[in-house]
Amino acid sequence: MQTIFRGKHFITLEDWTKEEIDTLLDVSYDLKKDFALNKPTNYLPNKTVFLMFFEQSTRTRNSMEAGITQLGGHGHFLDTSTMQVSHGEVAKDTSVILSRMGHAIACRNCVWESGNKYLRDMAKWSTVPIISMQDDLFHPLQGVADLMTIQEKRGRNTRNLKVSVIWAYATTHKKPVSVPVSQALLFPRYGMDVTLAYPEGYDLPDWAIENAKKNAEKHGGSLTITHDQEEAYQDADVVFPKNWGNWLTNQSTDVVDATLEANKNWKCTEERMALTAKDALYMHALPADRVNEVVDSVIDGPHSVIYDEAENRLHTAKAVMALTMGGR
Ligand code: CP
Repeated sequence: MQTIFRGKHFITLEDWTKEEIDTLLDVSYDLKKDFALNKPTNYLPNKTVFLMFFEQSTRTRNSMEAGITQLGGHGHFLDTSTMQVSHGEVAKDTSVILSRMGHAIACRNCVWESGNKYLRDMAKWSTVPIISMQDDLFHPLQGVADLMTIQEKRGRNTRNLKVSVIWAYATTHKKPVSVPVSQALLFPRYGMDVTLAYPEGYDLPDWAIENAKKNAEKHGGSLTITHDQEEAYQDADVVFPKNWGNWLTNQSTDVVDATLEANKNWKCTEERMALTAKDALYMHALPADRVNEVVDSVIDGPHSVIYDEAENRLHTAKAVMALTMGGR
């Protein structure tokens, strides 16, 4: 078991070995048990994590802020519109300076084709861990919380579970591809048979698909792509119907375009859930576009584990901070 994590960046789970992710999950389970027992977990006394947000957040901000408090440290919320980065200060200067004042820099920057580059640039200069709170390509905190939730519900051996990541219609905002990319890369490493279903025009980057297939070959899972949503629901053990933007074909940040409007029928309904395996899990990273992405009777129904999934964002975020900011 790998035990040396201090200073390790958390930008994508692709940079973490499976053994390291297993340790991260073990620590998450321990922290969850301690939370249930109201046991103190002061692993990071007097430590500071900076929480830089270029975009809005409910789960990520609050799991990190509550998490660092429960670990005995402090989180500084930083709205980047009030920082000098909004006047053009470069990633290097921000990163070096925050490194000198605290113990980790967490950042959400989902701007297409620059978010991940910004985090990588900070990581080049930072002397403390850089923790991704989502960028344009990856959302590792969501990926590991999703994996933990599947394991809690189906056991830690997830080999050959049929897990379907399904595009869904939504009009709330143009969402990054980082959640489906992270899921497609991660789940095959745990032996899952992943089906990725989306309408024409919503492809994920080629490198992500190639790497997901390599992960599947190495670890005994599989990755199948289909444009037929019913095929993805059929006999699935877990479904993730969720919207993402067509960034590869249309870089505009406008939410609605002709491709989106042509695919209104991509919605998680009771009829589609009836195609899934018995006791299938309905999951969603949230926020959900209720009515458009999913009907209330599914998201509030017996298949749904969305609130357990969201709570696991706390336990996994704490594990990431405890290992990378503390540890040894
Ligand atoms: N799932 C997720 O990252 O939620 P927030 O955007 O609210 O942080």
